[in-house]
Amino acid sequence: MTNTPGLPENPVFVALDTPDLNQALAWADAVRGHVGGVKTGLEFFAANGADGVKAVVDLGLPVFLDLKFHDIPNTVAGAVRAVAGIGAAVVNVHASGGPAMLDAAREAAETAGGASRPLVIAVTVLTSMDDSDLRAVGQTPPAVEQVVRLAKLSQDHGLDGVVCSPAEIEPIRAACGNDFQLIVPGIRPDWAASGDQKRITTPRQARDRGANMLVVGRPITDADDPAAAAARIAEELSANT
Ligand code: C5P
Repeated sequence: MTNTPGLPENPVFVALDTPDLNQALAWADAVRGHVGGVKTGLEFFAANGADGVKAVVDLGLPVFLDLKFHDIPNTVAGAVRAVAGIGAAVVNVHASGGPAMLDAAREAAETAGGASRPLVIAVTVLTSMDDSDLRAVGQTPPAVEQVVRLAKLSQDHGLDGVVCSPAEIEPIRAACGNDFQLIVPGIRPDWAASGDQKRITTPRQARDRGANMLVVGRPITDADDPAAAAARIAEELSANT
């Protein structure tokens, strides 16, 4: 898998899942030498706003701002412009917002970010949705068909990639080829607790299947020594065997 221009060689993005700005900054500072970037999500953003994200960006690590925009095209374009202005390296939107919304998101990132525009990534089907949830919202299982349809749609409208589960890497690669970023959560080193994640892979397995970025939260942030846990993952990823 080729490296993405503008993204680091180390594929690990640490999920800073906390509303506490000081905790997030402490985690990011501790692991900065061992990871490619950090991810801040809705909980962090709701508590700390753009200033909080800016404080993380100012540490110098690439930031994946995981806010999953889903609204009319004009509103999503405005939101993408705003977060591009904070300096996020990666932003995301729901692919189910449709073609015009995807176009608007991509165009907003291009105009706001110039040469250093953020990557715009799509969320396909939330991995928290099972077959009965899908039927409840009018979709026909299996989820993977909708996942691949929305990944193709996102690619056709110029998005840079999708967030997907480890189990979805191979079908999306088959449909979308290698020049499409796959950001994969649900990562557990074999020495870490699985927690509430059900379909997990190790960092090596996910990368070998074709993931470009690995989102890793609790195996690092819940560790007694987050820096050591991040370093161990980096070593496992760079080992030859
Ligand atoms: O602690 P853990 O490694 O499970 O954290 C994974 C991160 O990835 C969390 O921020 C979670 O919200 C996010 N995520 C996920 N599954 C998805 C999409 C995002 O676990 N399908």
